Amino acid sequence: MSAYTLPEFTLERWFAEFEFVPGIRNLAASCPFSATTQELLELEDAETTARYLRLGLDYVENPGNERLRQGIANLYTTLESGNIRVTSGASESLFLLILTTVRPGDNIIVEDPTYGNIAGVAQSQGAEVRRLPLRLEQNWKPDIEQLAQLVDHKTRLIYMTHSHHPTGSVRTVEEMQAIAKVAERAGAIFVSDEVFRLIALDGTPAPSVIDVIEQSVVIGDMTKPWGLGGLRVGWIASRNAEILKRVSAARDYSTMCGSAPGEFLAEVTLRHTQQIMAPRLAAARSNRQRLTDAIANSQKPIHWLSPQAGYTALLQLPFSTEPFCRYLAEEKRFLLLPGYVYGKAYERFMRIGFGCSTERFTEGLETMMQVLQDWNGN
Ligand SMILES: Cc1ncc(COP(=O)(O)O)c(C=O)c1O
Repeated sequence: MSAYTLPEFTLERWFAEFEFVPGIRNLAASCPFSATTQELLELEDAETTARYLRLGLDYVENPGNERLRQGIANLYTTLESGNIRVTSGASESLFLLILTTVRPGDNIIVEDPTYGNIAGVAQSQGAEVRRLPLRLEQNWKPDIEQLAQLVDHKTRLIYMTHSHHPTGSVRTVEEMQAIAKVAERAGAIFVSDEVFRLIALDGTPAPSVIDVIEQSVVIGDMTKPWGLGGLRVGWIASRNAEILKRVSAARDYSTMCGSAPGEFLAEVTLRHTQQIMAPRLAAARSNRQRLTDAIANSQKPIHWLSPQAGYTALLQLPFSTEPFCRYLAEEKRFLLLPGYVYGKAYERFMRIGFGCSTERFTEGLETMMQVLQDWNGN
């Protein structure tokens, strides 16, 4: 038995406590409002609905079916279906990648703040997790010199989110190239978690790291851009056949394969990406504007960087945010995410999600701002 254990995934435990409480209104989600099976099927003709109803519910192929992998490859400019392995959400991609990459005594580099999956699993494998702190004052951009000092010959991978989670800061091609150089020098894999990349709030999406850096590995999902977390479809993309082979072999132990209905509906979605995303992006842009106005008019100081991509923003408040978020959840039924879930350094931050409907967001934001103006900091 391993001497190492999985640390608590603090962010997911906060959601587990509140997200499914009857009557709670989620203002912390990193996804947009969701869609129903009917809405997806109605994007196509009756024949698609008939095929869905006839769909067999046997096991499906471990790597994901060819049509789905082709649909995913089409989201990139340089990939083909053979570069894609479908997983049960991006969560499984991250889990399998780290499980098959690090050993006790290795180290990995992650940004701080970041999504906790890969760091937690690496730690449970006996690897050291080295953190590259990002700062609001530097627009949440990585300091490449600091990154270079963190790596050594035992660094197995550098994990970055692009756009950055949870701040929505977007990476330039020059920054990607600089990170890739550091990774290459150390012999480490540059892993770009791009579940938010396509959610471009100002213009077109930033390029994928894998279309710029040949040796990189990227992660994507159906959860964030389209709001389809219930499909549990994510993927890992790489040109490195050995990495893909290891992930598939490890999947034999985790989920074996995806779910037939999930893969079917993901395929349908990818044939209509813009149609599904357009109303979600429109609501998010208008919600972000409401947030901008509320912050500008707030009597209490709020510092932030307006996100360029994704459906979340990280706000800095003048007090520790856990009691504030707990009060909002328990007394006002609005769920926000306190920054302590990203680590002690972020106790005074709070994540807000603006991918929900404009009505929900307006009501939640007004409530939050009212509570904030009278909040005495405890
Ligand atoms: C950056 C990031 N990566 C991966 C995931 C996992 O998402 P899923 O398993 O739904 O694809 C999340 C979920 O919040 C995330 O924020």
